[in-house]
Amino acid sequence: MKLVSVDKLEPGLVVSENIYTIDDRLVLPKGTVLDEKDIARIKAHSLYNIFVEDVKKNVEPKKEVPYENLSYAEKLKQTEEFIKFKEHIEENAEKLEESFRMIANDTMPLDIDKLTEPVYHLFVEAGGTSGIFDMLHNLRDNSDAVYMHSLNVSLISNTIATWMRLSNDEIQLATAGGLIHDIGKMLVPPDLVNKTTPLTEYEQKAMRAHVTKGYELVKNKDIDVHIKNCVLMHHEKRDGSGYPLALRNEKIDHIASIVAVANVYDEMTARREYRDAICPFTVIENFEREGIDKFDPKVIMTFLSNIVNTFIANRVLLSNGKSGEIIFVNPDHLSKPVVKCGTEYVNLSSKRELSIISVI
Ligand SMILES: [Fe+2]
Repeated sequence: MKLVSVDKLEPGLVVSENIYTIDDRLVLPKGTVLDEKDIARIKAHSLYNIFVEDVKKNVEPKKEVPYENLSYAEKLKQTEEFIKFKEHIEENAEKLEESFRMIANDTMPLDIDKLTEPVYHLFVEAGGTSGIFDMLHNLRDNSDAVYMHSLNVSLISNTIATWMRLSNDEIQLATAGGLIHDIGKMLVPPDLVNKTTPLTEYEQKAMRAHVTKGYELVKNKDIDVHIKNCVLMHHEKRDGSGYPLALRNEKIDHIASIVAVANVYDEMTARREYRDAICPFTVIENFEREGIDKFDPKVIMTFLSNIVNTFIANRVLLSNGKSGEIIFVNPDHLSKPVVKCGTEYVNLSSKRELSIISVI
């Protein structure tokens, strides 16, 4: 065992003691074979030295694939912009965790401008609204659930509000509401929040309390009422099937309606321990089929028509095993674009038996 400065860490080193933050939260357990992500995580916590084993483990060497054979996603992941964005969103997720924890136990004031500041930086790094989904869709293997989810929902809510051409003030409200919508999860037992298997009915009920607990936490704070409503109403559905109040239609805050769509989209396209990420096109198809009853039609239509465009030029895998590039979007059937497979143009809207099963 030896003590190594954080600056000297490299992939393959094995952690020989549990690593804790200054306030005693586990960062990485003993035995972790470090990869780039772990190293970034350690650095984000401003730790100086850690104990590692004397012998380094081999990390899987990356197979070299010629650049021209890489998919759009693989090429994107190699760009400096993507690497920077990934590093920063992970760093910010860590910071957000600290802030949420301190706000929840009342040791830090809820300063919404300060909290949302990093979100706007991330936008700049992603190259604005158009680049954000490219980044988010390729960050899907991340596991820092609540905080990463909060940042994603904030970025997506901002983007939807921008696509809807709302005022700058409203865009800011959607960004802030998206960021803190799940703050109540700080007040739900962590075992429940971090559970990696599906929740039982009883646990689900306890988990649902995060909206009312979150609202209790923010209701007397000096923040806009729409932001408070995002915390309370982001699980409401327009047909009355949501919670906690089973609100219908216009009773649901219009900013919370944006966060609701962003929340469901991010939740479903995220990978969970007990299930793979759902393909965005399956989520889009579900939204097309059932979304109009459950979500604000203006929000959902704007979201769907724009999001599909963000996939143009992406390579996708079809249910017949072939892969191709999305080249054209069908405005009447957004989940069924035209895909170019080799020299063949496949119009999915006229081939009902075929669907997109993943973005590769
Ligand atoms: Fe939630």
